[in-house]
Amino acid sequence: MTLPKIELHLHLEGAAPPAFIRGLSREKKIDISGIFAPDGSYAFRDFAHFLKVYEAATSVLTRPEDYHRLTLAVLEQSAASGVAYTEAFVSPDFCGGRDLGAWREYLHAITEAATEAERTMGITLRAIVTPIRHFGPARAKEVALCAAETAGPFVVGFGLAGDETVLTPKDFAWSFDMAREAGLRLTCHAGEWCGPDSIRDALRDLRVERIGHGVRAIEDLALVDELAERGVVLEVCPGSNIALGLYPGWRRHPIRELFHRGVKVTISTDDPPFFHTTMAREYDRLAEAFDWDDGVFRQIARTSLDAAFCDPDTRARIA
Ligand code: ADE
Ligand code: ZN
Repeated sequence: MTLPKIELHLHLEGAAPPAFIRGLSREKKIDISGIFAPDGSYAFRDFAHFLKVYEAATSVLTRPEDYHRLTLAVLEQSAASGVAYTEAFVSPDFCGGRDLGAWREYLHAITEAATEAERTMGITLRAIVTPIRHFGPARAKEVALCAAETAGPFVVGFGLAGDETVLTPKDFAWSFDMAREAGLRLTCHAGEWCGPDSIRDALRDLRVERIGHGVRAIEDLALVDELAERGVVLEVCPGSNIALGLYPGWRRHPIRELFHRGVKVTISTDDPPFFHTTMAREYDRLAEAFDWDDGVFRQIARTSLDAAFCDPDTRARIA
């Protein structure tokens, strides 16, 4: 498949190749050997453990230049999968600990790497600043301040990731209001580990226009109809859902039914090395499981492009 792919849901740290993280841990003598399987991949038992392994991996990303190298490594992987445009979640919690001065330095390093990748690999990156839900609303406010201060052509969005089973979207309303007032576009992880009401809560209390995952909307067909009617975009990450045990296999994944019921679904990888996936693999597995042809993928890529948070000039350039 040679269609240019558009990815809207990718965690920058979660896309770090394990060899890259292991290399930095050796350089800095930080012992995180427990997060790797014997074959060198990341090892985790379930979602809660995944979050712990994820945070341990980020502990070696201690300098802006680490993020420069990380961004290049991630974009190289994505470009190899035929991705033309990526929106990545970036967390000031991991980049300078929510200190605005440090955050600006990390962001500068990421932006420089993105510019280099655009020139050398033809892939465009934009950032969605993202607090971590289980770190709590107070930290999310500091993250929102970082996001608002750096909103612009590169930082285009604000999101919420982390453990969906703790707290509620409403607890983060202040942060989302601040981000919206700064001109940022909004998305929130919901309907991954909690049911349909978590999606309703995010839409009502945070006024987001996209939902990260959102697949559990399928458990309430009235909500599915509402999503379709309102044109809410779902950032669906099938390989992630299957790797984390949410669905037993590709044919059982609800993306097909959501698509047929008129919901604006898009396709992303979430944290590709953790889930042994790539955008090319997601497309291949979906084509195989649902007999989807180029026409379906073209429609989904169009939806993704329309839902991208970048400015219209950037959208026109990557179209
Ligand atoms: N952070 C990284 N991957 C995530 C996921 N699948 N859900 C919630 N938070 C995440
Ligand atoms: Zn995610």
